[in-house]
Amino acid sequence: MATFDLQSILDAYGPDAGRDYAAHLNPRFHDLLRLVGFDRRFVRGEGPYLWDDQGDRYLDAIGGFACLSLGRDHPVVRDALEQALRIAPPTLIQFETPPLAVALADSLKRFLDRPTDRVFFVNSGAESVEAAMKIARAATSRPGFAHWSNAFHGLTLGALSMNGAEWLRRGFEPLVPGCREVPFGDTTALRAALADESVAAFFFEPVQGKGVIPHPPGVLQEVAEICRETGTLLVADEVQTGLGRAGAALASRTDGVDPDLICVSKGLSAGAIPLGAVLGPAAIFDRVFDSVERSVVHSSTFRENPLAMTNGLAVLHALRDEGIVEHSARMGSALIAGLRDLAATVPGIREVRGRGLMIGVELDPPALSIGMPGLANRTSTLVAQALVMRLLQRHRLLTQSTSKGSGVIKLVPPLVISEGDVDWIVEAFRESLVELGRGRGAAIRGLIKMMRKAPGGGAPRIHTVIHGVEAVRDWSAAGICARLETVRAVVPALRSSPESEFIRGTSHVASLRTRRTARRLPAGAFDVPVHRRSRFGRIVRLRPDGRPARRRRTKADARRVS
Ligand SMILES: Cc1ncc(COP(=O)(O)O)c(C=O)c1O
Repeated sequence: MATFDLQSILDAYGPDAGRDYAAHLNPRFHDLLRLVGFDRRFVRGEGPYLWDDQGDRYLDAIGGFACLSLGRDHPVVRDALEQALRIAPPTLIQFETPPLAVALADSLKRFLDRPTDRVFFVNSGAESVEAAMKIARAATSRPGFAHWSNAFHGLTLGALSMNGAEWLRRGFEPLVPGCREVPFGDTTALRAALADESVAAFFFEPVQGKGVIPHPPGVLQEVAEICRETGTLLVADEVQTGLGRAGAALASRTDGVDPDLICVSKGLSAGAIPLGAVLGPAAIFDRVFDSVERSVVHSSTFRENPLAMTNGLAVLHALRDEGIVEHSARMGSALIAGLRDLAATVPGIREVRGRGLMIGVELDPPALSIGMPGLANRTSTLVAQALVMRLLQRHRLLTQSTSKGSGVIKLVPPLVISEGDVDWIVEAFRESLVELGRGRGAAIRGLIKMMRKAPGGGAPRIHTVIHGVEAVRDWSAAGICARLETVRAVVPALRSSPESEFIRGTSHVASLRTRRTARRLPAGAFDVPVHRRSRFGRIVRLRPDGRPARRRRTKADARRVS
């Protein structure tokens, strides 16, 4: 019988994983990685670092989307999982009360200082939100939900129904009915939204993940008061902020509120085995599981599996034993201070904000003199993307740009980073901002580089690169490229796009013809079709701005009108 050999599988699939990923899983995601220069082969990870196949070491400030609180391959977690495999407690008997689930619930309640809560385990962040939605409905007998604008609670259908980004919701409607979006921080609007007492729960992230936006002081306390008055449950989605990420066991407690339900996941799993949980008072849970028959009315197959429970226990052990929550608060303060000092000396940063090691660096593109005519609010996202690319290529620092309309670089490194790593990040920003601010177009050159790698010319895919940027979808990238004499790369891509987008794209390119800078464009750069078929099948001539030319009125037309 052949033996199973994991290393040989890694060796066989590793070198061509990119190409094969495109074939077997998601070719568009593979395109995206190539565009943003993330098409590297990482072969080892330890703590906050990664090593590529060239032996270069990287600092990971994406942190597995903020879940790698202990970094990769933490010895306590590895040892715990090895023990679990060795001891091999019987798994998934299902009609059982697993001791490891009991131990983890007990440990988690103590860690979060919620001694009288009940716990429901899940397999992901979005699943914890789905569970909380169902619990809230059952507990209140109300149908609705409310959430802030710009919210992110996951991408399953219920969680997506409370998502503040139209581009993420588009194509998946109809979503869960009765979800009300309230402008972020507007407590008057919240009061109005909850006034008819049909909303089961108000969901909030203590620090919004998109753009890293904390609540203004006092807002969450007012929110809690409004929820209490209207009988609406207050649900803290601490999937990202909880368990040390924001410098405290629970970020909502830093704001002085004590939510009814709490969702946690990323920091509890720490990345080794997927895991999440919802915590809430017995009185609420008892409304859901209200009889023997309904004791399994919400459940899932894997939720209390021994590996996930062991993982959670080991993570809590390490967080407690190594004082990682306090370390996160200390390193976060040092990083925020370092970046704020930098903002005072080097142009290009509008604001540094966040808590613990959940930090957003909002850029100031005009200060980098990259304000380009016609691009207005679009430029910031391009600048952010260019900076992300330079941080990776020049400084081996993994970051991501977040938030639409305003360029924000998000830093969520493992909570175990050192003071040396803090310096690494600050110095990387210093050099990159200086370089970017050195002349108009530095950021744009980064984008162009990205487009050159794009299969089929690039422009239609640019919008997937800089997620959430509506602007780039409507061909501002084409405009940028026209300025930089690379319109040839863009136009073939425009040709293959749907007609309405094609028209918008060509009109954008055509409008650039009039600009002085466009005179340097190579001959044939605007080699785009000048006709299209109308809705009624007629061939319509297009004006240089891409709109259909008006037909001259004929005598027959005049007769018809009279
Ligand atoms: C606040 C918040 N809630 C929910 C989720 C969804 O978690 P998951 O990706 O594990 O489904 C995320 C993920 O980023 C999150 O940040």
